[in-house]
Amino acid sequence: MATILDEERDTEQALPVRMEVTDGLAVITLNDPARPVNVISEGLLRELGGILDRLENGEGGVRAAVIVSEKKGTWIAGADIEEFKEFQTAADAEAASRAGQEMLERLERLRMPVVAAIDGAALGGGLETALACTYRIASDSPKTKLGLPEVNLGIIPGAGGTARLPRLIGLRAALDLMLTGKQLDARRAMKAGIVDEVVPQPVLLEVASRQAMALAAKKLQPRVARRSGSPERMENLLPMRKLIFSKARQGVMQKTHGLYPAPLRLLKVVEAGLDRDVRQAQELEARAFGELAVTPEARSLVHVFFTSTAAKNDAGLGDDVEPKKVDQIAVVGAGFMGAGIAAASAESGIRVRLKDVKPEAAAKGLRTARESLIKRAKRKRMKRFEVTKLIDRVQPTTEYTGFHASDVIVEAVFEEMGLKHRVIKEIEEAVGEGVVIGSNTSTIPIARLAEAASRPDRVIGLHFFSPVEKMPLVEIITHPGTADWVTATAHAYAKKIGKTPIVVNDSPGFYVNRILSPYMAEAALLLQEGVRMEELDRAMTEWGFPVGPVTLYDEVGLDVAQKAGKIMAEAFTERMGSPPTVVDRMVEDGRLGRKNGKGFYRYGDDGKKAGPDEAVYAVIGNPPKKEMGRAEIQDRLALIMVNEAVRTLEEGVLRGARDGDVGAVFGIGFPPFRGGPFWYVDRTGARDVLERLRALEQRFGARYAPAKMLEEMGREGRLFFPDDA
Ligand code: 3HC
Repeated sequence: MATILDEERDTEQALPVRMEVTDGLAVITLNDPARPVNVISEGLLRELGGILDRLENGEGGVRAAVIVSEKKGTWIAGADIEEFKEFQTAADAEAASRAGQEMLERLERLRMPVVAAIDGAALGGGLETALACTYRIASDSPKTKLGLPEVNLGIIPGAGGTARLPRLIGLRAALDLMLTGKQLDARRAMKAGIVDEVVPQPVLLEVASRQAMALAAKKLQPRVARRSGSPERMENLLPMRKLIFSKARQGVMQKTHGLYPAPLRLLKVVEAGLDRDVRQAQELEARAFGELAVTPEARSLVHVFFTSTAAKNDAGLGDDVEPKKVDQIAVVGAGFMGAGIAAASAESGIRVRLKDVKPEAAAKGLRTARESLIKRAKRKRMKRFEVTKLIDRVQPTTEYTGFHASDVIVEAVFEEMGLKHRVIKEIEEAVGEGVVIGSNTSTIPIARLAEAASRPDRVIGLHFFSPVEKMPLVEIITHPGTADWVTATAHAYAKKIGKTPIVVNDSPGFYVNRILSPYMAEAALLLQEGVRMEELDRAMTEWGFPVGPVTLYDEVGLDVAQKAGKIMAEAFTERMGSPPTVVDRMVEDGRLGRKNGKGFYRYGDDGKKAGPDEAVYAVIGNPPKKEMGRAEIQDRLALIMVNEAVRTLEEGVLRGARDGDVGAVFGIGFPPFRGGPFWYVDRTGARDVLERLRALEQRFGARYAPAKMLEEMGREGRLFFPDDA
């Protein structure tokens, strides 16, 4: 018979943790009523502490326990990141880490086995909780994912993860997880040795309960005991260990240029911790966690987490605006982008009609989409029948058949107004009433596209970035006549396929290309002035961009950049002047970038970048002659982008600074540790940015004229994010 150990069921159910004991088995259920996900907040720690007291005191004759979550989609999402904002000093954060560690040590030391029954996300402190359990069973739900994503927040695991994970699965695999923050589904977690079993979601609690009792009766052994002496454990010993750390350090430096303190500190903590017992190792962990949590890098990364989550969950419309459900879409234009959009949608369970004019083109698009899906399915270790089901979701067509059943149509044909107008008209003839017509244009104003439609209210921009499967952003562009339900549905669709959407108003270049454009033009001017291309690239990767602007020209394609540059120069001639001639000359010389193996850089037969092409200097008519300090290059390039971002807010292209930061970080790779252009202004100080811009304006003219809003902010000492001051 079930007994509830707390006073009253009513009060129980309002608590984030409750315990029910049946025949010696305690089921500890997590469900924080005040939060969308379970997090290890102060409140949860307190409640869990109370439950541990009772278990330690032997209340209810408990012989084994299971921890489950009642929240759909999450087991425990980790520490409460909201609480990070309250950390004033490293000591505050260190104390929070110690509180988590102590709780999990108590859990680990209980005299009974505890089984983590994981359904949904077990991330950060969530996985660390599971690691302190005796046995871990994960459900096969697609929502189940396990990982330690702390580095993405500028910190390291702070509840024993740095000590327990390497001891459980070996150094190499543990470092890989902790340094990348990658999240494993249940099957991969099982393969990695993190979970003991994977079971179908409906039987999770039943199996977990049975195994908990089997562990108590010593009829089952936990994996951690079975693995002692395994090859994974051998890695933790010298000299293998030295090699692994030195490789890992090299990898981190290559990827981050040393700009992110957390991964480097993580390596130190793990390395020093291996020679100590878990408790001593946790001392090092807590200290490092504390120091890292209050660094500017961590504050910026936390900002990126909250702004991107908010952008995902809030389309900026009223609560009364309902999005339509998106189960089926159609894509017109089966080129690289169209195929990418089809694949990303199919992967999220959406059925797709992929249309092109010629059967060969539709078939090619289908092949591209399938290849991408199969590659990702392999990584997820999907079973053959699942892969078949997945790729069957994309159906090629040369007609508009099946379009009437679609909820969203994405037009991804060649970037040409007349063609797009024709396609929009054809789509309208083939679809029903409540259908969203999205255009994946990157340069054509949406209002102009909507002119072709009999129902312009259904037309919206859905700007994907290339390659679609990797790039996390979708820029949604509304024109003045776009209906709210259309915006809401486009937003919901982007979210459903795992992208982070921002909603912006129609304007040349929208937001992302608008701020990228002056940056790219300035890079071309610097080349024209005689700065070496690799110097430019190095300056900006050292500032934190994933690639420099010259490499970006090659990646985007010089013909594409030329076209976009012209549109932007026409729209903003007064400030921007005519576009730099460098790009024209490169195109005239047949240099289109990586795609034809000939750009600023040389490319080998395998398509790999093989160093700067010195012949370029003759093509652009300027030998490299100028030694320019890195800081000057960085200032010229970064500030022109930041200033443009503020202008877009001032002009109402952006609906808020939040979206500006998300768009820059996720669309361009603006350094996440700088939080985005608006956060950068707040942290650097508007006055300081203003002064530097004014100095540049004096030297180079109107293109550096500070945005009015920036002047106001500088004058009044205002912030874009006053709540995070
Ligand atoms: N702390 C505080 N709030 C959190 C949170 C957390 N750890 N995780 C999620 N939330 C909030 C989100 O901000 C969002 O709030 P909103 O409704 O007000 O916008 C809400 O929960 C729902 O989140 P999502 O919209 O992201 O929901 P999804 O279902 O799409 O995703 C998730 C759920 C996979 C758990 C995702 O939210 C996520 O990745 N969360 C962060 C996980 C993480 O980074 N954990 C590590 C924390 S640091 C740590 O644990 C330190 C430890 O080592 C001591």
